Amino acid sequence: SDPVSFYGEHQAGIVTPAQDRLHFVSFDVTTDKRAELVELMQEWTAAAARLVQGKEAGTFGTVGGVPEAAPDDTGEALGLPASGLTLTIGFGPSLFDDRFGLAGKRPAALADLPKFPGEQLIPEISGGDICVQACAHDPQVAVHAIRNLARIGFGKVSVRWSQLGFGRTSSTSRAQATPRNLMGFKDGTNNLKLEDVELLRQQLWVGAQDGPAWMTGGSYMVTRKIRMMVETWDRTSLGEQEAIFGRDKGVGAPMGKKAEFDTPDFAAKGGDGLPLIKNDAHVRLAHPTTNGGARLLRRGYNFVDGSDGLGRLDAGLFFIAYQRDPRKQFVPVQMRLAKTDSLNEYIKHISSGLWACPPGMRDAGDYWGRALF
Ligand code: HEM
Repeated sequence: SDPVSFYGEHQAGIVTPAQDRLHFVSFDVTTDKRAELVELMQEWTAAAARLVQGKEAGTFGTVGGVPEAAPDDTGEALGLPASGLTLTIGFGPSLFDDRFGLAGKRPAALADLPKFPGEQLIPEISGGDICVQACAHDPQVAVHAIRNLARIGFGKVSVRWSQLGFGRTSSTSRAQATPRNLMGFKDGTNNLKLEDVELLRQQLWVGAQDGPAWMTGGSYMVTRKIRMMVETWDRTSLGEQEAIFGRDKGVGAPMGKKAEFDTPDFAAKGGDGLPLIKNDAHVRLAHPTTNGGARLLRRGYNFVDGSDGLGRLDAGLFFIAYQRDPRKQFVPVQMRLAKTDSLNEYIKHISSGLWACPPGMRDAGDYWGRALF
């Protein structure tokens, strides 16, 4: 497939039709020199612009430099095409402290997330100063990109945590078939999609009137690593599984309807007089009508990080959602889910991240975070 353009009003990797594979990384900045951080952003941007075209990270490449120096590309993607690679950068709340004089530039919408009931966050795999989301159709291409950014950042940033995702759990375009998550359900049916231009303007992109100016055209990303108790889930009856989501497992239709994209009828009652879509069903609680119209652009991935030594798969959903203002979108939706979602019996949130993703690169002279620094 053709390379995805690195330039535009918005960053690639948000409404870009979700690729199949993810390598997500969170960095902590280790240098205390602002000039070094800016220099790194310029080096990273130059490398990213090359990588997304399927080129090597540096100008000498894997074998073009002098034998005495380490190659400026690690080599494992030699011969592989661009594979739809996108690299999307985000800045975490911790970057906006006294170290780099950025405290005054922290967006109000980048307010720390509240503590949600039931979450069991592990600090070592949460947060971070800077993130990069690499998505591609080939896992080797995504990993290669992140690895080379980490290599270039040596001495200025260190990897805090990183996450591989092997299968998309969302569609971000109506041209894509809806994939399935590890609970076996279609995921992404009622997602924001790139064709919903007016909704994207209202719900996804930061507007000029929102502030700060450096975020105009950007978006806020929330990441949540959600472990699934798949073994328990797999012993749950089909009827119970469908009731939990409020959709059927085969075609993904809302309860009482026939086709995947039919509109859910939240008022419909069954023969027993109870709502067809239960009051604690995931799609009722997450639906915009329950949340003052709030919507998210979900772009998550399935993960299996081996097993946990207790005979269980270490599996789940690496949830990624983009939005205009997390205080009005992710936070109220997740608060509602955390309190009453019947899915909670089978999941556990173990990592969290909040990121300000600036607008897109204008041209080759632009660099990541230019308007911020
Ligand atoms: C819908 C699965 C966590 C927000 C759905 C659907 C499924 C699903 C199967 C129905 C199909 C669709 O419209 O996409 C899961 C699983 C989760 C999870 C397995 C955890 C492991 C979350 C979280 C949020 C969220 C943490 C946000 C805080 C939504 C929204 C919808 C949705 C907004 C669309 C509801 C609608 O408008 O109909 N999810 N989800 N989900 N989910 Fe989740």
